[in-house]
Amino acid sequence: MRLGIISALSEEQQGLVEAMQGPHKLIHGQRDYWVGRLWEIDAVCVLSRIGKVAAAVTTTVLVEKFGVTHILFTGVAGAGARTIAVGDIVVAESLVQHDMDASPLFPRFEVPLTGLTHFPADHALGTRLLEAASGFLDEDFVDAIDPRERAAFNLTRPRIHRGLIASGDQFVDDRAHINDLNAALPGLVAVEMEGAAVAQVCHELGVPCAVLRTISDNANEDAATDFLRFVKSVAARYAFYIVRRFCLQ
Ligand code: ADE
Repeated sequence: MRLGIISALSEEQQGLVEAMQGPHKLIHGQRDYWVGRLWEIDAVCVLSRIGKVAAAVTTTVLVEKFGVTHILFTGVAGAGARTIAVGDIVVAESLVQHDMDASPLFPRFEVPLTGLTHFPADHALGTRLLEAASGFLDEDFVDAIDPRERAAFNLTRPRIHRGLIASGDQFVDDRAHINDLNAALPGLVAVEMEGAAVAQVCHELGVPCAVLRTISDNANEDAATDFLRFVKSVAARYAFYIVRRFCLQ
């Protein structure tokens, strides 16, 4: 396995490059690719920046130039349903581009000429992530997350969900918008801005991928404030511990 690990922002991946053995940096297409070993796994870590195009080009370069065989995206997301809370962990079963709409030529959400609305995530990789996430919650969580942060975000016993992740080039911060997406996309668990682009590229190139997201906000009018606080203080802790467990499994 040669694992490509992508996050949009540095806060979502902090600590991973520092944990690499023998890291060396290669700059390509205005991004820093860190190549090395991560807990005995051959890995390449990179920040894509935000949005579907940024994620798609980063994924393509990881596969075509760096020869990765598997891709893992880790970051934060807005809750896609009322039953999902800030601090919960979400693993993608499949991913959809919620701002894709070429109707009436093609059905809403269908990526034209692929016949697909939903792109699958790799089931075995997702299961491995779920196991890593539950190990994190059971064994690392209390020590990993500062008690003040746990209190501030009301993180008592975060839950893990597997389901549909919707991506679009929009930060969703409007209750009516998230309600519409929830109604239009059964099984929706989270909204973010990159995962479905990664999944489409991986599908087209035949590379298995997994997407792990920690819920930072409720995609409502408070989303921007909640997102900024969460990403600054908590997101990297989740990512570090879960990716470590994923690699060591
Ligand atoms: N990432 C984290 N929160 C998000 C939101 N509300 N919308 C889009 N992407 C996000």
